[in-house]
Amino acid sequence: MNKIDILLGLQWGDEGKGKVVDALTPNYDIVARFQGGPNAGHTIEFEGKKFVLHNIPSGVLTPGCVNIIGNGVIIEPHILKGEVEGLKQAGFSLGKTLMISNRAHLILPTHRALDAANEKALGKMKIGSTLKGIGPTYTDKTARKGLRIGDIAMGDFMAKYEKLKQAHLQQIASLGFDMNGFQLDGMDFADYEKLWFEGVDYIRQFPFIDSEYYINEALDQGKKVLAEGAQGSMLDVDFGSYPFVTSSNVIAAGVCNGLGIAPNRIGKVYGIFKAYCTRVGTGPFPTELFDATGETLRQNGHEFGATTGRPRRCGWLDLPALKYAVMLSGVTDLMMMKSDVMDEFETIKVATAYRYNGQETQHLPFAACTETMEPVYAELPGWREKIEDRRQETEDGRKKMIPERLEEYIEFIENYVGVPIKFVSYGPDRTQNIIR
Ligand code: GDP
Ligand code: IMO
Ligand code: MG
Repeated sequence: MNKIDILLGLQWGDEGKGKVVDALTPNYDIVARFQGGPNAGHTIEFEGKKFVLHNIPSGVLTPGCVNIIGNGVIIEPHILKGEVEGLKQAGFSLGKTLMISNRAHLILPTHRALDAANEKALGKMKIGSTLKGIGPTYTDKTARKGLRIGDIAMGDFMAKYEKLKQAHLQQIASLGFDMNGFQLDGMDFADYEKLWFEGVDYIRQFPFIDSEYYINEALDQGKKVLAEGAQGSMLDVDFGSYPFVTSSNVIAAGVCNGLGIAPNRIGKVYGIFKAYCTRVGTGPFPTELFDATGETLRQNGHEFGATTGRPRRCGWLDLPALKYAVMLSGVTDLMMMKSDVMDEFETIKVATAYRYNGQETQHLPFAACTETMEPVYAELPGWREKIEDRRQETEDGRKKMIPERLEEYIEFIENYVGVPIKFVSYGPDRTQNIIR
């Protein structure tokens, strides 16, 4: 009986999940998304080409891999259509290798409008949502009002759509917003709605399946399955900095209800983190830097959102938060990304505790959801060397690939968190990795 492996982001998203899923896919038969929706932006780079995936799992660029959008995911058909067409133009035809769960919920155009109205109503306290309709769609799911992929094939789909749309329009009006002149992605609402329905028709070409059976039976047959997380643990609806979070469970437990996998069928849990931290949107970020160093991280790391293009907030690595995320998901293997961004740094700081109520703590207090904790830092020397350069010299076996000071940085993190870092990424390309 095979178990499912999971790959999760451990910070505030954008850790590099797309790159690693793509790099690991040759070892897997199936890649499945279990939560989130087009708020995700997962980047994959190889042979000078760059792809950004939102709703589609990151196994699609590996021929022969089956990709599943699981029941815990929410889908915007127009966005999904755009992604599929983009891949087709680049020479990747998905055929039947993309499958969609009947139970995945649909993001309606009015969910997106409601997301925008909610954010405007919050004013300064806005979440900084990606405006893809995530919050309102998950709200309708738990309120038992949502529309699902399987409903598309049912005779009463249009009636259900109209009913939900009307309810949304009332909610939008009650927030004091007028749909007249309302634009979605630069289009009038009616034009967008038309494209949305074209998207609904378009995605009928993919098999709508009961993915819980499909995946469990595949595991029974000895197939290898990787669950691909979206967002990051600090954006989890239960354990993140609520209310500045997304609306799904992004930790390992999300795989159980987002794919229908029993807890005793979970195998390896790969936890991925950047060698520093970033965050987009509002909410506390204890190690955030507002100085030239923060700007250097942003420029060196090209820290601009893959979904919205927003500049990402940048700061030092936060070990109490990382350890918390590792605990919540039972991470077995850590993967450290983007060490190359700090190659030139003379010294590097790492938060090892917070100062709260006059005391030092390694725990995240409840107040950390809405208040910015004061970090306590350790300072380590930078490595000031590139792995890339060592790579060339290693051909004759003279040098270890990882610079000594970088190795010390890695060991410092391992000692704090208690889980080995088995994979170090030093560039965006699918080949720029070292297995430790
Ligand atoms: P995801 O949402 O977790 O898949 O991450 P994103 O794709 O939103 O953001 C990660 C960004 O970092 C992308 O532009 C990647 O191409 C890039 N990236 C991934 N790993 C590395 C790395 O090790 N070094 C550098 N410099 N860039 C990386
Ligand atoms: P990937 O999968 C980074 C953030 C938003 C906002 C909050 C809520 O690429 O790592 P939402 O649209 O979900 O209602 O937004 O969560 N957010 C992300 N930040 N990476 C993501 O996904 C994100 N998905 C949502 O910026 O602060
Ligand atoms: Mg991203």
